[in-house]
Amino acid sequence: MTIKIACLPGDGIGPEVADSVVSVLEAVGKKYNQNFEVNKYLIGGCAIDETGEPLPQVTIDACKNADAVFLGAIGGPKWDDPNAKVRPEQGLLKLRAELGVFSNIRPLTVFPKLLDASPLKPELLENVDFVVVRELTGGIYFGEKYRGTDYATDECKYSEKEVERIAKVACEMAMQRGKRLTSVDKANVLETSRLWRDVVSRVVSENFPEIELEHQLVDSCAMKMIQNPSHFDVILTENMFGDILSDEASVLAGSMGLLASSSIGESSGLFEPIHGSAPDIAGQGIANPYASILSAAMMLRWLKLETEAKAVEDAVHEAIANNVLTQDLANNSSVTTQDATLAVIEYL
Ligand code: IPM
Ligand code: MG
Repeated sequence: MTIKIACLPGDGIGPEVADSVVSVLEAVGKKYNQNFEVNKYLIGGCAIDETGEPLPQVTIDACKNADAVFLGAIGGPKWDDPNAKVRPEQGLLKLRAELGVFSNIRPLTVFPKLLDASPLKPELLENVDFVVVRELTGGIYFGEKYRGTDYATDECKYSEKEVERIAKVACEMAMQRGKRLTSVDKANVLETSRLWRDVVSRVVSENFPEIELEHQLVDSCAMKMIQNPSHFDVILTENMFGDILSDEASVLAGSMGLLASSSIGESSGLFEPIHGSAPDIAGQGIANPYASILSAAMMLRWLKLETEAKAVEDAVHEAIANNVLTQDLANNSSVTTQDATLAVIEYL
């Protein structure tokens, strides 16, 4: 059976880390006798340059027809004009909406070898292991936007149904883990947050009574994530808070270059590193490919290829344990994207 992967390399370091994923999938295919058919499509700034649109219809159709989608990164200074009519980010948001991938999972693991890469004291990082479950297709990202002559508005809207389905995903995840759920909102100020809090409380009490649920305000959660990160098990939050908190979480791991993510809907799965296109280092072959390779592992697991997924994760852990560290993880390192990728393939 052929497993069809739509690969969207995007901009900046996107194509470099996407190439790493293609090589790793090839190696996995050989070792485990799986046939991955990977095809590349345009998204983001490069798509604007070639077609005028950040998400061409060809890409949408290919993603819908694929078994899974991998995305590198999008955006860069070239397309950053604040007055531009089309922006690379619109392509990604539209893709998430088109695929209906409402549930964004961003796990945080601290690698023992990398305790020094984080600005936090090593003792604070002991036993840190949590997952951010971010609602991905609603809230202020998708509300109506309006620019008046001397003002602007962004609407933030959530329906009960939207909150309920993501709350269930987070609860199911908590049941597989430590059965502790932190729901994050700004209920002291926002009406959407008060709805969020009500619905999450109801989902837990009606369907998951074993889960220990707490509600935290986003500002105080941002503080506690640094003060006491080992407190958290599953963090459930809305679209924009999840965007911000997951970048903050990456600091605990030591680098944005380590955090993987999956975005899942009824029938689609989109897998991407949480980092951006890093235009400052693009084209130099020094980007950290581990976040992308770990995202590919999440993809394999979602495709029900558990053995393969675990093997890829173990190989990345092995590479890190053996000091195969790119510059973001080790000062003055000369390890390239390709070195790190080959190390993973070797440990596979
Ligand atoms: C992310 C990114 C995107 C987001 C941008 C590129 C639109 O920051 O995936 O976290 O805000 O969702
Ligand atoms: Mg982000």
